[in-house]
Amino acid sequence: MKHLLSLETLSPSDLRAILDRVPAFKRGRSTHPRPLAGQTWALIFSKSSTRTRVSLEVGIRELGGDVLFLNANDIQLGRGEPIEDTARVLGRMLHGAVIRTYAQRDVEDFARHSGIPTINALTDDEHPCQILTDIFTFEEKRGTPIAGKVVTFVGDAACNVPASWIFATAKLGFELRLAAPRAYWPSPGLLRRAGAGEAADWTRHGTGSVTERMTIGNGMLELIEDVRLAARKADLLYTDVWVSMGKEAEKAQRLADLAGYQINAELVALAKPDALVMHCLPAYRGLEIDAATLEAHADTIFTEAENRLHTQKAVIDWLLA
Ligand code: CP
Ligand code: NVA
Repeated sequence: MKHLLSLETLSPSDLRAILDRVPAFKRGRSTHPRPLAGQTWALIFSKSSTRTRVSLEVGIRELGGDVLFLNANDIQLGRGEPIEDTARVLGRMLHGAVIRTYAQRDVEDFARHSGIPTINALTDDEHPCQILTDIFTFEEKRGTPIAGKVVTFVGDAACNVPASWIFATAKLGFELRLAAPRAYWPSPGLLRRAGAGEAADWTRHGTGSVTERMTIGNGMLELIEDVRLAARKADLLYTDVWVSMGKEAEKAQRLADLAGYQINAELVALAKPDALVMHCLPAYRGLEIDAATLEAHADTIFTEAENRLHTQKAVIDWLLA
């Protein structure tokens, strides 16, 4: 039984096997196989969603399946029924499940107890469907593998989206720069789990800002306080919201702490001339990205959003194989 619970637990060959399946689903949207015929899947969501919900509901239907959307607060899970019992019940009725929630452990427990293919549609720890899509979109736009390229993530480097990028760089062998204040760097425990080398190269620049550089699996990781240094000659500038779902109480502090970590024209000018700008969306113009930069790169950003549909069909096809 296969699941997509994280990029941490996805092997490099499986990661590549999913990416390789995407073009056929994108090209043949109306003609591709319908391997979910006769199946019913459920989306069980405890957090808001536009892209993930719609791309998966449409994708499951276009793969021939039926789909239920279950707001976690509308089912007994929201009143305290254990995830294990929910999983054992739903596993006897459904053929697959897609879960968006807080604790990574809940997705893993659901997969273990339900006995049906389970997809992580975002937890506090990871957003694997998003980063698979982002890598597909980079390679589609550039026509070249992401290995050896420089990806600069700007903003809250301690949340789910950069965590999945970290696991991806370890597996696919690119250079990932995380531009953030130190309080928003990923935890040492996460870096160790991703295969970060012990001997980090540590530099204090003239401005007093710090860069740490380390190997991580097949890739290279840099934690960089100075956003301008991080953007230099990057192939991809990437950002996410400063206030992830569940962090709303910290909003004022986060907006103050992250104020200098915006993707804007000045930052883009430091990257390679053909650098892509991506955003997982939703975007807050004037915070993590300015309006003009988002519009200048709208084709990439909204193709990235559309590619959620095609990439997640590839995920489901891989799960069934
Ligand atoms: N990027 C993303 O996952 O968007 P939603 O929260 O709208 O699903
Ligand atoms: N880091 C964001 C991603 C939203 C798609 C969040 O968790 O809210």
